Amino acid sequence: MCGIVGYVGRQDAVSLLLAGLHRLEYRGYDSAGVALVSRSGLRVHKSAGRIQRLEATLPKRCKGNVGIAHTRWATHGEPSDANAHPHLDCSGEIAVVHNGIVENYRELRASLEAAGHAFRSDTDSEVLAHLVEAAYRGDLEQAVREALLAVQGTYGIAVVDGRHPDRIVAARNGSPVVIGIGEREMFVASDVAALVRHTQKIVYLDDREVAAIEASGFRTTTLEDEPTSKSPATVAWGHEAYDRGAHPHFMLKEILEQPDACERTLKGRLDAQFGTAHLGGLNLSARDLLDIRRVKILGCGSAYYAGIAGAHMLETLARIPSDAEAASEFRYRNPVIEKDTLYVAVSQSGETADTLAAVREVRRKGGRVLGIVNTVGSSIARECDGGIYMHAGPEVAVASTKAFTATLLCTALLALHLGRVRDLSAGDGKRLIAALVRIPEQVRTVLQERERIRAVAAKYKDRASAFFIGRTHAYPVALEGAQKLKEISYIHAEAYPASELKHGPLALVSPETPTFVVLPHDDLYEKSLSSIEEVRARRGPVIAITHPGDERLATKVDDVLLVPRTEPVLSSILLTIPLQLLAYEAAVALGRDVDQPRNLAKSVTVE
Ligand code: F6R
Repeated sequence: MCGIVGYVGRQDAVSLLLAGLHRLEYRGYDSAGVALVSRSGLRVHKSAGRIQRLEATLPKRCKGNVGIAHTRWATHGEPSDANAHPHLDCSGEIAVVHNGIVENYRELRASLEAAGHAFRSDTDSEVLAHLVEAAYRGDLEQAVREALLAVQGTYGIAVVDGRHPDRIVAARNGSPVVIGIGEREMFVASDVAALVRHTQKIVYLDDREVAAIEASGFRTTTLEDEPTSKSPATVAWGHEAYDRGAHPHFMLKEILEQPDACERTLKGRLDAQFGTAHLGGLNLSARDLLDIRRVKILGCGSAYYAGIAGAHMLETLARIPSDAEAASEFRYRNPVIEKDTLYVAVSQSGETADTLAAVREVRRKGGRVLGIVNTVGSSIARECDGGIYMHAGPEVAVASTKAFTATLLCTALLALHLGRVRDLSAGDGKRLIAALVRIPEQVRTVLQERERIRAVAAKYKDRASAFFIGRTHAYPVALEGAQKLKEISYIHAEAYPASELKHGPLALVSPETPTFVVLPHDDLYEKSLSSIEEVRARRGPVIAITHPGDERLATKVDDVLLVPRTEPVLSSILLTIPLQLLAYEAAVALGRDVDQPRNLAKSVTVE
């Protein structure tokens, strides 16, 4: 998704802004631009394509101590030089960068054009520059406030004005904006990743808030010009956590980080004495927990699949009817919100627009929402009634990996906690805790299988499509395995509950179509073996992702990827990891851009 960086201070803004843009590259983009303000006025440089292309076109004598920059992920208008941000007003004095969508831009543009404004791009964002120009009477901050009152939609914006070479005005509604506080210098960004190299001290803007930022400080107001007060927070992670280090890709780094990430997710939360989990941020009393009659988990993409696995854990351990739903659909069906249902929003970024909208829909109707979120201080974390932080550390690769396994652990902890105030015995709780404690080490064991997984990936990487199947709690693992493979290797992959094969997809099984079978050792093991027979009878290659111990299996399948045994309800955590590595190795072997797959973006902050 789009990224914003801004700087006000004494240093050379150009190099800081470009370095900041590079740190936001992971979000996905198709054009980039920069606006610099100095005593000699405002200059804008922008171009379609990579940041390197922008760098190559920048004049050598491009200088300034104040500036804003942007990476654009096209929504309205194709990726082109003209559609890249910053956008200028007619006078060429005001430059705006914008994340989000101006929903009423057609009406706004028509009335601005009728008033004589000339547009240069096809974007919705350009209206913002002209609106600020129309409202400008010498005070940039006031003009931005007035302009935004006319806007419907979402925005995170930064604005500079050639007549005020000492400031940036920023504002937010539904799209994150964070201010970084330095020593006589200030930063602004859409994502802390862009500024952690320079400062750990940050302030998040709230919706409908405007900030006037100068090198010496900032002030914030509402759109209606009421002053607001902000307390700085400290970024949880140092800049090294956002670096790729010696790894060839962020995705591999994040897959390999999973043992440590799992340890952090569990740290301080397991109570072996009482066989339960301590979750300080839930903000729910034991009585509240007893009143819960249903759990609904909401998330998008991989977060949704993790939610399906989590719902399964909750139903198994706490015996509460639980399900998961795609947050992107939820609000459009005018959902019935029940007061004894616990809603749980899952999001790595904490900024996914659809998930945030689902949270707001539940709260608007009086429901209670917990967040399972990785990014501390993110919008979803702040808007939920309580929650569980994943503590997985920054996830930079577009393809989510460690946040997926961290979510499964968080839902296991929630299930344990809810189970123990209900029917789960202390003995069962303790058994589960013993299994949870072993998970980080078991993840390490799975990661040691990388060579074997690479060989399997090499064997099947040229197939046009693949199936992933699994039953009950293995089904979300199949969904996630297919998701990872298609996202980064571009191999068409579909997941089905194994029991559904014969109801349709078997028609496509052939010697050319591998089927990856997620096969935990649980009550349904034998039934899954029958699904394998169905595939084999059509001469389809079968790859089993399973635990050691069944000697018969080698004769029934083409390849086996093994993960250690654990409690069946936790097996999804371990079974997912070979499929992450499989997708990674296939994508690398096919020469794909692993960290920035085509058409995709990290943190989808638009609908
Ligand atoms: C898949 C992937 C996406 C995200 C989804 C939700 O690898 O990364 O499907 O899981 O966009 O993102 P968050 O978790 O940030 O809400």
